[in-house]
Amino acid sequence: MKIDLIIKNIGKLATCKSFGCPKSGEEMNNLEVIEDAYIAISDGKIAEIGTKNSYERLIDSHTKIDDANGLLVTPGLIDSHTHLVHGGSRENEFSKKISGVPYIEILKQGGGILSTVKSTKEATDEELYTKAKKSLDRMLELGVTTAESKSGYGLELETEIKQLKVAKDLDKNHPIDLVHTFLGAHAIPKNYKENHKEFIDIIVNEMMPRVKELGLAEFCDVFCEEGVFTIEEGEYILTKAKEMGYKLKIHADEIVSLGGAELSAKLGCISSDHLMAASEDGLKMMAKNKVIANILPATSFNLNKDYANARKMIELGVPVSLSSDYNPGSCPSENLQFVMQLGCLGLKMTPNEVLNAVTINAAYAIDRQDEIGSLEIGKKADLVVFDAPNIEYLMYHFGINHVNKVYKEGTLVVDNKGVIYNNTI
Ligand code: NIG
Ligand code: FE
Repeated sequence: MKIDLIIKNIGKLATCKSFGCPKSGEEMNNLEVIEDAYIAISDGKIAEIGTKNSYERLIDSHTKIDDANGLLVTPGLIDSHTHLVHGGSRENEFSKKISGVPYIEILKQGGGILSTVKSTKEATDEELYTKAKKSLDRMLELGVTTAESKSGYGLELETEIKQLKVAKDLDKNHPIDLVHTFLGAHAIPKNYKENHKEFIDIIVNEMMPRVKELGLAEFCDVFCEEGVFTIEEGEYILTKAKEMGYKLKIHADEIVSLGGAELSAKLGCISSDHLMAASEDGLKMMAKNKVIANILPATSFNLNKDYANARKMIELGVPVSLSSDYNPGSCPSENLQFVMQLGCLGLKMTPNEVLNAVTINAAYAIDRQDEIGSLEIGKKADLVVFDAPNIEYLMYHFGINHVNKVYKEGTLVVDNKGVIYNNTI
């Protein structure tokens, strides 16, 4: 096997390797860390991991050698919940929000998600693409190499498809790999307020089959919340989605404890997201059915809400992942490193738990565990060199970007001058 690249002199290499399932319970705090390590890469994949200079026998005339200068290396970070593609921004609601007007109240007044629906409808494909690409560049610079991307700012077929197609194009043209989710059930449009059933029929009978037929989304998601979709409506939509071959996700128990955690377990969702108000029974059901709790602490931070009970989840054996929820309303930030810091400071998770939550468990949350999420032979060589001596330092020194270099499938895409990939990747 020809070795294309060796990254040598890695001070600490956190592999985030799991054993055939997402990490849960005490295993979430376990982390394999190899000191004085190297990684050999062939054809974009990890060919060998070893220590000291035993890589020397792998070098031939075409092998490039990069020096990690004794720094920390982790798998590329995975942001497993984003609303990446959307038009406009909502800073006009910011003063209302900080003066205490609740998120759902702003939505009820026709703002919130519905205001982004309007901007997304009005935006051209190019405008959506340019804006989302800027966000992806930011994410890459912060160490993210794979992200999930939801629709949900169309609420009618044409605009939902417009968003999903833009995300597909970005996936093709940008180093960050994207996983696509259809979220047609993200809000009730004003004209269906009194007739949910009619809107749900459009989602299920028109939008979901068409999106599936065009191959634009792998997952289907629903926002179950008081004033949005009820648990019964969510169950109906997700059951139909499952029959059509979608994998399932749910925005569950974010503000009110409605039984979203229970529903995610009942339907076999891959992940159940938010869960700030989830009941203990619901969490127990999730643990039993190995549904991943995808927690979004930057949303709690931004909405000034209580954090999800991550300690309880881990104690009950629910596998936990963390993600940004990047969107123009409840979390206008792409910064997954800040999310990691909140994982420790807000959710009281340990640094090891947090790193597992944004790597291997996040890979499970988007069903990519066989390709990414850990540094193991045969997986994609997606990795981050952090300008940090150890994992604790990443969480402790908060609010800055610790990235020194990012490699996507063995190609250097960020160095200490910033994003350097060329657009043809
Ligand atoms: O996950 N909660 C619902 N959806 C998003 C917010 C979207 C928005 O406010 O635009 C979320 O927080
Ligand atoms: Fe969300």
